[in-house]
Amino acid sequence: MTAIFFISFLIIVLTFIIIGAIAVVLFGFNMIYVNLKTLVPWVKTPANNLEIILELINLPPHSLIYDLGCGDGRFLFLAEKKGLKAIGYELALYPYFKAKMNKFIKGSRVIIKNHDFFKQDLKAADAIFIFLNSMIMKKISEKLKQNLKPETLVISYGFEIPGWNLKKVLDTKPSKTYIY
Ligand SMILES: C[S@@+](CC[C@H](N)C(=O)[O-])C[C@H]1O[C@@H](n2cnc3c(N)ncnc32)[C@H](O)[C@@H]1O
Repeated sequence: MTAIFFISFLIIVLTFIIIGAIAVVLFGFNMIYVNLKTLVPWVKTPANNLEIILELINLPPHSLIYDLGCGDGRFLFLAEKKGLKAIGYELALYPYFKAKMNKFIKGSRVIIKNHDFFKQDLKAADAIFIFLNSMIMKKISEKLKQNLKPETLVISYGFEIPGWNLKKVLDTKPSKTYIY
């Protein structure tokens, strides 16, 4: 009896270990693939900076804000807490599923999609948040120029958008935040 119990326990533990290992490998390969394709790794904006940014931009309640490349959704959840509607796009599966799990745990109503933000229509946005990297700022600049309402606020953490007129620079750390 004890042996059967022990073997069943061992099988269950081994199954969990194997499923876990497969998930780690799949998420790992997907992360490498997405990094190579987009040239943007998943790096989190420090939470206190997100607080500072949302305080400062002070959007009216129910404004629609997008996070293009939303990682684990941290910006979306904070924006929702401040009374905004929030939509995020994330291509990498690990942060995407983490964001979805956080959404479920928090009972949040933010929208999180596993889509390429370059292929989305962003015309409804009142504000856009981005934390990308210098190599794709020109490309995102073209996309935003063609696809936003003129009054849409654009907030870029860490990287300036080349050729755009700055409204304000926030002295967030370790990187500055550029508002257009
Ligand atoms: C530097 S991280 C920022 C994460 C989050 N916005 C934050 O501030 O914590 C950028 C994210 O954008 C995602 N990403 C890059 N290009 C993308 C694209 N074209 N469509 C959707 N997600 C993209 C990456 O997978 C990465 O997780």
